[in-house]
Amino acid sequence: MINIFARFRQLSDPEVSDVPYAVNIDKDKCIGCGLCVKQCPTQTLALSEKDAEGRRYVEFVKNCEYFEKICIACHNCEVICPKGALAFPHYYEVKKGYWKTDFDYPDALQNGYPNPFKEKKTPEFATIADKLTETEKVIYQRRSIRIYKDKQVPEKEIHRIIEAGRFAPSAGNGRPWQFIVLRDPSVLAEISEATLKWTTKITKLYQGKNFWRQVLKNSMALFKPAAIDQRPMVAMQALATPAFQDEPLDVFFGAKTCILVLRNSLGISNPDFDAGICSQNMVLAAHSMGLGTCYVGFVSTGMKMDGALKRIKKRLGVRWPYDIATAITVGYPAARIDGVVKREFPKVEWFE
Ligand SMILES: Cc1cc2nc3c(=O)[nH]c(=O)nc-3n(C[C@H](O)[C@H](O)[C@H](O)COP(=O)(O)O)c2cc1C
Repeated sequence: MINIFARFRQLSDPEVSDVPYAVNIDKDKCIGCGLCVKQCPTQTLALSEKDAEGRRYVEFVKNCEYFEKICIACHNCEVICPKGALAFPHYYEVKKGYWKTDFDYPDALQNGYPNPFKEKKTPEFATIADKLTETEKVIYQRRSIRIYKDKQVPEKEIHRIIEAGRFAPSAGNGRPWQFIVLRDPSVLAEISEATLKWTTKITKLYQGKNFWRQVLKNSMALFKPAAIDQRPMVAMQALATPAFQDEPLDVFFGAKTCILVLRNSLGISNPDFDAGICSQNMVLAAHSMGLGTCYVGFVSTGMKMDGALKRIKKRLGVRWPYDIATAITVGYPAARIDGVVKREFPKVEWFE
């Protein structure tokens, strides 16, 4: 009951993040390569028009009609910049309402970097790397990769990644997962196209400033509030907007392989949780091998909601009790992207 009241209260809550938006761009360093623009999941970055000297540089732009500027503060733009020209000195923070973020924000941004040894002053990662295990290094440096080389990953490497998933822990050792490896370009293109159609539909429905949008939002806020958080909504819009005019849209970011992780609905306890653990084993293994990955939640969610995507899923042979838990792109990163980023601090309570 209290939960319902809390959700009703949320209907009047702010939708737009109160992140003080700005990215610091050192124009002298920026070479206008556009890597940060391609990697940005919300398309909050764009290249400027040419200036008097014919130079283009990156700008922080309005990326969304409805929300103006939304950035999920992944800090990937900073880490991908080959010239260290970008600094995003903020975290994603909503101060009140249902979408209120529950983190502690470090006073000095430097403090948001990994500090596993709890040093007084957060160290430069390079100075502690020697003391870390290979596993820790991969965990801290893995980034979602959204730019891939036009090159297929050999089958044996994909097998190696799935093997890492096979050995993941699961409730009751039930291992409620199966895998589909998508490498046929026409199937990937078909899924991408159908996903884009679906996300475009949702974007129109959600972001339109009309009566029906309000009805949809108010009902969803009661039953599935997380689904209408502004962040996935703006990422959906970004997906359907090319980073550069001549670039084709592709929900797989040009990766030549996508692994669908299926979960068995009859699995013990919480099969989605098990499938998530299995997936992250695979993701970490892939990055430790120098490959890049990105979860593509819009594909797996779309395959549960959208008619066209459901039909493709059926053709791929996915039948109850199995369903898609997630989709993971695998490919060769087109630039050096993995690296450390800053993150907020979740509350940690110790009872000693
Ligand atoms: C379940 C899940 C679904 C995701 N879906 C998408 C997606 O559809 N598109 C996308 O660009 N990134 C997607 N991501 C990647 C997140 O945006 C990313 O993990 C987050 O911004 C943090 O950045 P990092 O992975 O580089 O640390 C997803 C991540 C997870 C765990």
